[in-house]
Amino acid sequence: PNQLTAPRFAAMKGGDRKITVLTAYDYTMAKLVDACGVEGILVGDSLSMVVQGHQNTLPVSMDEMIYHAGMVGRAVKNALVIVDLPFPSYHLGRHKAIDNAGRILKETRCQAVKLEGGVEQADTIAALVQAGIPVMAHVGLRPQSVHQLGGYRVQRDRERLLADAQAAEHAGAFAMVLECVPTSIAREITQKVSVPTIGIGAGPECDGQVLVVNDVLGLTSEYAPKFVKAYADLSSSITDAVTAFRDEVRSGAFPTAEQSYE
Ligand code: KIV
Ligand code: NA
Repeated sequence: PNQLTAPRFAAMKGGDRKITVLTAYDYTMAKLVDACGVEGILVGDSLSMVVQGHQNTLPVSMDEMIYHAGMVGRAVKNALVIVDLPFPSYHLGRHKAIDNAGRILKETRCQAVKLEGGVEQADTIAALVQAGIPVMAHVGLRPQSVHQLGGYRVQRDRERLLADAQAAEHAGAFAMVLECVPTSIAREITQKVSVPTIGIGAGPECDGQVLVVNDVLGLTSEYAPKFVKAYADLSSSITDAVTAFRDEVRSGAFPTAEQSYE
């Protein structure tokens, strides 16, 4: 009953505290993250890599996003839940975009969608907003365009970034992610747009920050970008626990009478 809404999320712009967003991809993690009092939980298409083991975010399907959004939506009671529209679910015309984004609102308990783009996606953002679907935009490094961008790099084209951010704002996005943008440009965008900027690799002056939960927990074994900070080392905790279990099974130390039935 007191779950954060997109309008209340947007109204945090210029408030007295920064906005915290984290990804989650399943029920257990979403419940834990939600209980910590973050404002936003993102079912990111990063699940393509983090959960599914793909090389980039391109392979994950609409049905798979719905599957994970269902789990997260059932877990979250407090935060706003935003779901990434996967590639190319919003590139096939506005009707298809509304159809796909509409599925998220119809088939899961999540409340908003995110899509990558500004200027080129302005018409799509406007169409979704007109259909009553809250849209978070994503400008700067757009991982779904990795092949066109030629890799994951810091985006420094100030004019382009400003144009994208302002196009997203004018199209009706309630917030936007800024990914891999120099601090000074992120500051300028944050000052110029009336909706919250949520940074990832965009410096400290955005209205909020987002990271991939597996990175925050130290669960990512592969290369981590410069903008990541791990607040725990769960990989080691898991390795230690599993190794201890294996050792006790091998030696016969587990189970004892305590874990057994008479
Ligand atoms: O897919 C994702 O996890 C994202 C965030 C990191 C912004 O888009
Ligand atoms: Na994403």
